[in-house]
Amino acid sequence: MKRTNVKLLLLGVLMVSISLFINSRIPAGVSYAQQQSVEYSCPMHPEVKSKTPGDCPKCGMHLKQASKPDETTAKEDSRWGESPFPNVELTTQDGKKVHFYDDLIKGKVIALELIYTTCKYNCPLETARMVQVQKLLGDRMGKDIFFYSITIEPEHDTPEVLKAYAEKYNVGPGWLFLTGKPADIKLISKKLGLDKLPNGNDPDGHMPSLLIGNEKTGIWMRNSALDNTKFMALKIQQLLGYGAQAAINIGAANSTESAKLDIDKGKYLFATRCAACHTIGNGDKVGPDLLGVTSVRDRAWLNRMIVEPDKLIEEKDPIATALFKKYREIRMPRLGLAQEDVNTVIDFMKTQTAEFKKQETAGTQN
Ligand code: HEC
Repeated sequence: MKRTNVKLLLLGVLMVSISLFINSRIPAGVSYAQQQSVEYSCPMHPEVKSKTPGDCPKCGMHLKQASKPDETTAKEDSRWGESPFPNVELTTQDGKKVHFYDDLIKGKVIALELIYTTCKYNCPLETARMVQVQKLLGDRMGKDIFFYSITIEPEHDTPEVLKAYAEKYNVGPGWLFLTGKPADIKLISKKLGLDKLPNGNDPDGHMPSLLIGNEKTGIWMRNSALDNTKFMALKIQQLLGYGAQAAINIGAANSTESAKLDIDKGKYLFATRCAACHTIGNGDKVGPDLLGVTSVRDRAWLNRMIVEPDKLIEEKDPIATALFKKYREIRMPRLGLAQEDVNTVIDFMKTQTAEFKKQETAGTQN
């Protein structure tokens, strides 16, 4: 009799401790029923739901866990828990304070990228290519389309630093460069699913990505900021509801800027990786005109200038240092091209120069 009592007591203690153990595994404030129904959903497409983590089939964004009370702050929960756009305060390159959702996103068509001004890899090319997109969008910029570049290095990128950066790239109206409190910027990038982005100066950690969308219609897409610029301008205009019309406008821009995608690899590489900053024979852009560069510099130097321009400057190579000074200390970025592509692009600069000279002499003879 006594023995059974002890057994029952032990059993009881065991059951209580098991349930205590289970409870301790559940974050405070979430009932067991809730815990079981945890779902993942897309911050941009709330209708996309999944029992398991993954990417949104509509926009590729990482699905976020629906209820995770331990990760969100009380402030966020009470005021903008449901919105993917936290209304945090940011500062523009002109020192103006703005609210992320109310002033920058609400009711607008936007393109948003994360940057940092000391980036030696793809960010300078991204910015330069966005400048091309901005030109294609013409006077719609600042009226119904807005670009935002938010720094992920707010400690370094003050409004003054961002202003200098924007000026170097000849950024036009309707494009804000923003800084803010590190925690607020982290929150934005996390909410927008851009937090797997630039990782210091680690070339592999950098996945250029751009978010474009229309807050009114709720349509959002993620793109590589290195996409074909005309295609991107077209997509942005389509978000505004300009369908065929946009296609016509971009088509017109096509013939004047560079030609459509060509099978020629050198031309393609130059158009997508270099032409945002360089021309061959049409004058300086952000970087120098490369007409004739293959005859004034030796091949090994050119190779290094394309592969590791930052090293040349670090080593105080006199030519690279002088160029860096002359071009207002904008970096020629490391573009991560394969050696084969570097060869192709150098050959392209050579043949383009010859082609340009030929046309020039033909022109003067006429
Ligand atoms: C984001 C802008 C940018 C991009 C993209 C870029 N460059 Fe440059 N490049 C520069 C700048 C700026 C300089 C001047 C040197 C400096 O400031 O580091 C330069 C310098 C050079 C030079 C040296 C010119 C001389 O007179 O010796 C060469 C060659 C060159 N770039 C080739 C390329 C090639 C090829 C590509 C594409 C594969 C490319 N660049 C992409 C900005 C860029």
